[in-house]
This record gives sequence, C-alpha cells and structure tokens, in this order.
Amino acid sequence: MNSKKWFATLVMSSMLVMPLNGITAEAASTTATGSYNLDFHTASYTEKTATLDGKTIKYRAYEKIVYVKHPVDTQYEIMNIYVPEQYYEGQSIGSYNADNAPIFFPNAIGGYMPAEPDSPGQGMGGGDNAALIALANGYVVASPGARGRTATTGKAPAAIVDLKAAVRYLRYNDSVMPGDADKIISNGTSAGGALSALLGASGNNADYEPYLTELGAADAKDDIFAVSSYTPITNLDQANDAYEWQFNGINTYSKLEISTDTDYHIQRKTVQGTLTADQIQVSNDLSAMFPAYLNSLNLKDADGNALTLNSDGTGSFRDYIQSLVIASAQRALDNGTDLSDKSWITISNGKVTDVNYDQYLAYLGRMKTPGAFDALDLSAGENQLFGTATTDTKHFTQYAQDHSTVEGSSMADAQTIKLMNPMNYISTSGTDTAPNWRIRFGTKDSDTSTAVSAMLALDLQNKGYNVDYALPWDVPHSGDYDLGELFTWMAGVAGGSTVNATVPVADQSTTTGGMNMGGGMTGKAGAPDDSGTDNTSAPSGTSTTTGSTTSPSSNTSTAPISATTTATAGKATVKINSKTATLASYNIAGSHYVTADDLATALQATDKAFTVAADSATGSISLTSTTASSVSTSNTTSSNPTRSAKASTAKASVTVDGKQVQVTAYTIQGTTYLKLRDLAQALDVNLSWQSVTRQLNIDTTTGYSAEQ
Ligand code: DHB
Repeated sequence: MNSKKWFATLVMSSMLVMPLNGITAEAASTTATGSYNLDFHTASYTEKTATLDGKTIKYRAYEKIVYVKHPVDTQYEIMNIYVPEQYYEGQSIGSYNADNAPIFFPNAIGGYMPAEPDSPGQGMGGGDNAALIALANGYVVASPGARGRTATTGKAPAAIVDLKAAVRYLRYNDSVMPGDADKIISNGTSAGGALSALLGASGNNADYEPYLTELGAADAKDDIFAVSSYTPITNLDQANDAYEWQFNGINTYSKLEISTDTDYHIQRKTVQGTLTADQIQVSNDLSAMFPAYLNSLNLKDADGNALTLNSDGTGSFRDYIQSLVIASAQRALDNGTDLSDKSWITISNGKVTDVNYDQYLAYLGRMKTPGAFDALDLSAGENQLFGTATTDTKHFTQYAQDHSTVEGSSMADAQTIKLMNPMNYISTSGTDTAPNWRIRFGTKDSDTSTAVSAMLALDLQNKGYNVDYALPWDVPHSGDYDLGELFTWMAGVAGGSTVNATVPVADQSTTTGGMNMGGGMTGKAGAPDDSGTDNTSAPSGTSTTTGSTTSPSSNTSTAPISATTTATAGKATVKINSKTATLASYNIAGSHYVTADDLATALQATDKAFTVAADSATGSISLTSTTASSVSTSNTTSSNPTRSAKASTAKASVTVDGKQVQVTAYTIQGTTYLKLRDLAQALDVNLSWQSVTRQLNIDTTTGYSAEQ
C-alpha cells in the first residue's frame, strides 16, 4: 500500500471530540438502532509507554474498537490497535514506516472460549508478550477479540466470522491507518492457532459471506498475508480419528480437570485413568478410520514421495512424523540439550540416528479419552462449539452421533462443520489462501495428534504455499515460546529488516498445561482466571511500568521503580560460554533478576565460579571466587519462579571477594533476587543480548561491558 492519507486525516480528525470506546460521536447517535461506524478515527487514542529492557517504547493505543456495524456482543467483537509513536513523526523503525509496516494480528483465543483483544504487556509465562515485541520492532499491532462457545451467540462459526470481520475493518481503513493491510500476519495458539490457520486458509471465501453480512462487516476483503499458528487444535471433524491413530494401544491417560472450588477459585488437577474395555473398542474403531482419510489427502513429502498409511496404521506418513521427531531431537542435541535420559533415542557421533516411535509416544502420553474432540457423552468443549443457541452441545462426527451415550443427541449441520475446517478451503476456487505459513507443534504436546498439524502443513506445502513447519523439542501445549524466531521469520516473509529494538529474553511460554476443553480454557483470555498464570500480571494503565529509571547500560545500580512492583516469572534461555542453559529468573521492568545461588550454579563450571554465603539477619550476600567445578549442573536452579509475584525493593549488601558492590535487589516471596546486569558487572563477566535470536549470552572469558 503506497502513499497513505492517514497523516492528513489525523490533523483533520483531531478537531473532533470523540469518545475512546470505539463508538464515534457520529455512531453514538445511531447506536440505538444498533449501528456502529466503521471508520477508523486517528485521533481517538491514548498515548502509552512501555519499557523493554530499559528502553521506552511510545505508542498510540486505539482500544475497544467495535469492528462490525451490528455487533452481537460488544465485549468481544472489538479490536485493540497499537501504533508506534515514531510513525506519527515520520520516522522509520528498521525498514518499516507508517506506510509499509506489516500489521501483526495476534488473537488471545483459548479453548474456543470468548476472547477479548490482547494488549502489549507481559505474556503468561512472564516476559514481554508478542504484541509488545511487535511494537518494538515496528509492527502495527491489531488484536481482535472474538465470540466463543460458552455464549449462545458464540457457537461455530462465530469466532472465525469475527476474525474475518476484524480483518475487513483493517482492510477497509487501510488508507487512513498506519500499517499495510496487505501484510496482515495472524498469530494464535491452540484454538487461537486453529482460528489463525482457518483465517489464513479461507480468505475471501463466499461461504462466510452471509454471516459477515448479518454482522455488518466492512465492505472489504478478508484474506491475509501470513499465518503463525502454534499447536492448532483444528481439523476437528477428523481429530478424533487422528488422536486414536496416534494413541491407540496407550490405555492410560493423564488429563487435566478444571473445576471451581467453593470460593470460585479455579482448581486444576491432573486425573490419571485407564481406558475401559468400551473405550478401547472406541479407540480401535476410530483409529481404523484414519488411514482412509489420510490417504484421501494425497500428501507428499518435500521430495514428492507419497505419504500414506496402511490399514493397520503403519506406513510412510507415520515414518514421516517419526522423522520430524528425530529432526527435533537433533536440533535439541545441537543446542546442547542433554538427551541421555531418553533411552528411546539413539545417538551416534552427535547424530540422532533413531527414535523408537512407540516409546516416544509412551513418553508423550495420552491426555484425552477416545472421542477426544467429539465425545460420545457430548462432554468435550468442541461439542459445545458445535452447539447452537438452543442446543448447547452437538456431535460433529457420524461415529460419535451413531455411538452417542446421550439420548436425543443431534449432529451439527454439515455447513457449520465445513466452515470450521481449514482443510476444506486451502487453494480452493474463490479462496485466497495466505501465501506464508509458520506452524509449530511441540513434541510434548498431546492435546491433539501430531498428524493434525502435519496434514495442514503438508497440504499447504504440496499446494505451493511457503510453509515453515517444525516440532520444537519437548515443548508442551503452548505458544509464543520462540518469539525471536517468529519475528525473524516474519521479517523474512514481510521483507523487513529484523529488530532494531532491544528486548529482554524470558521464557515466553504460554504453556496451558494441557488444558482440557471439558473444563474450559487456556486461561489466556475470556473467562476469569485467577490461577495466577500471569495474565493478570501486566500492570494496568500503561502496558508495562512507565517512568522506569532503570538504565540497562548504567554502571551503577539504579533506584528501583517503586517500593513494590510486579515481577513476572520466566526461565531465561541463556548461553553460558556458548553452552545453552536455563536460569530461573524474574523480569521486572524489562530486566532480569536471579538469585545469587542460581547464578553460582550456572557459572560453577566456568573460570568465574563463585560460592555464596548469605546472612539473612543482616541481609548481606558474600560472593567468593572459587575454582571451576567440573560437574556441570547448569540446569539445576534452586528457585522456581512459576508465576507473577509481588516484588518489594530490598536492601542487599552484596560483596564480591570482600569488596562492596552495588546491586539492585528485590524480595520476591521471601527470596532475594538480584539484578543480573549488576551481578555481571560486579563479577566482571560479559552479558549481552542478541535481539534477533532473543538469546541472553554470558561470556565469562571476556570482561563486563556496559553495552548490550
Ligand atoms: C484448547 C485445548 C484443547 O485440548 C482443545 O481440545 C481445544 C482448545 C486450547 O488450549 O485452546
């Protein structure tokens, strides 16, 4: 999109007075008749700032914009749009500017539940979320909310219709909004990953038109440029069969049940069980049906070899999935991961030569019982997704309907089932499928069969789309855990230079712990979640702490932001003298805080090894140089931050070899955490940050340097 008129519009529209809730003054008068104005109002924003590793990001926030003329639910059919402030000053960020910046389109949908739009801040696992990192890297961020299955108005296909309507809003307003609506990059995890994929697969297809017309969606196209999809829980009408094809013969399961206690606190507990004889029969039936479907797809590997399954479930498609697991293990090994405890992996001369696939599956473990998505008793979340306003739950596979244990059960209508499956739309006539795809599914994810993401990726690849598909090693059901790689990929497809912003590393995992749809949600959005898994942790108002006085390159420790603040948990992925390790850490205002003990453990095999003596009575922490220990237990940390916590400023008297040093300290849940950069300076080790790979490097062989 060339030469925008948005700047001129800004000057003009700033003369109008408009409320900030997305309803324009003009529209407010028509709200009584249920009509919202779909024009983007450049002047209806609030100015916000966020701090990333000591750097201030200024941006304009346009929040809660109703993106359809006739919304059904204004809690969810809204979008938050964020624009870097530099774009209003005619500046560029990297190679992006107000005209050409791609639009990052992250949804926060989990469990097919209703979801509010996301905003820049902390991710669930601690650390900065994708929206904030996108802003720092010059993307315009547009996060859509969408209706979900628990509302009578949120049944399928509501959520995909909503996402399409949000895309249409952006395309409709392209000439007046910063960013390029021809470069929309969608991102989502799990159900959100499924909807991200469906959005990309089905661009402009007329099947959705009646629903979009009913909502009063903007008159514009809804195809997008790129899809990022983590663990897509998709292809739902085949997912029962795929699950049993994978797990048939594994008769024990471990599922997470979510309930609410008498105080309305969400309780999560893992329930172990063994399949009954009836369930084993269902598993046998379902798994026997999968090869015919798989073979009907005519999938091929990158060399053009057919990927098929024999009726007993063996065959080249299974071998292909095994090869993906082997490739994943190889990457882990190359990155220094210790795989020696996995007896089912054969390693010879640094090469993973085999993975015993059955033993790998046993290690992975079954999470769901047969009828994993279309449950015979209608208890799965997906049954509720396919319900209607009058019938809360329905079947969506013939087998489950035929074997239903619920009297009077009914099937969802065929068109609704079709509308929810991206496999029905890829490259079909009248459809503009997104050209670029990045799909990730962890090797420790058993929320759906690996076959589901593999079939999606292969079908796209076979039809000529640009697909980056991989199984990250040992990653459970989660998303946004590799944002450095995601943003590098995005810059690659969108033709931009990556990342000129410095962002802190942290475990970005939004692990949902293998959430069972029966209970509810991923905790990312929508429904209340007081589990403390960080989605409540972002300080309100501005997305992260404003006015931070923490300077990343300062040589002395600086005053903490306030007496108490929120620390977000994360495990920083670090390289210590080029060896990968993890370091338990908290993130406060963009800086990492660790315990002295954990850092001592991490550095014990290096030339900067030290011991720690702490006196809790006086608050003194003495670090004493010692010789390197040959036993490396660099992955063992004594502290285990798992969730956000209150952090109070602490007075720690820290000495290194008897000499007093300045180290900023916080007390978090009774433990003293020290600023990693201050410790690096005090110990004279080099600490650097690679923004592209989001990798924190500690190099003990070179001295401290203030520069990042
Ligand atoms: C999600 C998880 C599931 O196991 C499922 O069946 C559907 C959605 C989720 O985390 O979004």
